[in-house]
Amino acid sequence: MWNYHNPVAIQAGSGSLAQLPTLLDGRRALLITFPQAAALGLEARIAQLLGPQLAGIENAVQPNPDVSWLAPMYERVWRRHADIECIVAFGGGSVIDCAKAMLTRTPSGNFDALLAHLRDGAPLSGRDAKTLIAIPTTAGTGSEVTPWATIWDAAAGSKYSLHQTWTWPHAAVVDAQLMLSLPHDITLASGLDALSHALESIWNVNRNPVSASLAAAAARSVVETLPELLRRPGDLALRERMASAALQAGLAFSNTKTALAHSLSYDITLHHGVAHGIACSFSLPHVMALAFGSDAAVDALLLDIFGAVDEQEAIDNLSGFLERLGVSTDPAHYGIAEAWDTLVQRALQGPRGRNFIAAIHS
Ligand SMILES: [Fe+2]
Repeated sequence: MWNYHNPVAIQAGSGSLAQLPTLLDGRRALLITFPQAAALGLEARIAQLLGPQLAGIENAVQPNPDVSWLAPMYERVWRRHADIECIVAFGGGSVIDCAKAMLTRTPSGNFDALLAHLRDGAPLSGRDAKTLIAIPTTAGTGSEVTPWATIWDAAAGSKYSLHQTWTWPHAAVVDAQLMLSLPHDITLASGLDALSHALESIWNVNRNPVSASLAAAAARSVVETLPELLRRPGDLALRERMASAALQAGLAFSNTKTALAHSLSYDITLHHGVAHGIACSFSLPHVMALAFGSDAAVDALLLDIFGAVDEQEAIDNLSGFLERLGVSTDPAHYGIAEAWDTLVQRALQGPRGRNFIAAIHS
């Protein structure tokens, strides 16, 4: 028995940003975006589209949303915009995850209650939650079609996942025109994040036929498209293919969650400052080697995606793909001194690690 559920209404295609006023349906919205959106002319574009429906702009989002700056933003949002029904998140995964943390009001309006929920599971009410419309400007995060937000607590050395029924976006607008100016490093890291979401959804105990077909299509498309896109970043057709692949990967892992490669990545991002998309993808060949042998259908799918006749060829092809993009598959390259097997064993115990298909014992 299995089920597949995703409630996000998707508007996609070049120019689909123009649908935003229709999606708001007369409601006013708070825009949450990244600091550079103003200089890129993107804030002005949203302001022009929304006119008086735009109630305010929060643009102090930094990479990897951390409770240290989410707290003052949260309290500002609820002090100034308690009556605004809708939040428009316009940016990469950090912006969309940040917006998810702003959606519901704690009884006091302070962030402390939300932090207590993240740290200890204290109950959180979504009674007056705002509605989220997510507009990704990168092709990778998938956060526009998932209910999770990754929230960091660097001071405590921790990473949390916020997941409530109201943290599903109401709608996602996927417009590749917004991705045309993405720099090389962000195109690469976000594209590899999408590949990781796809593969992690395949070697996952929660997989089902729908998630597997979405994930396989996404993985094939990333492998085929990303190297070409990095050579021709201004090609709209390639941007559209990557946007669709990232969306498919997002839809796949919205129902399976991620697995071992993501579980491994969190400490690497926290302690070594490696961008999420690189931290969760450089280990994919290692993780694929561990995944083989658990399920014949999964093995066959992985061989097919990487055009391989046997496991070693698939692992070599994936490693070669990453290395040709300039991404080292050697943990030592990222300053990781701890024994890899120890890291894997620890990562398998994490919530995402327990989704991994293979039971591995040291
Ligand atoms: Fe990811």
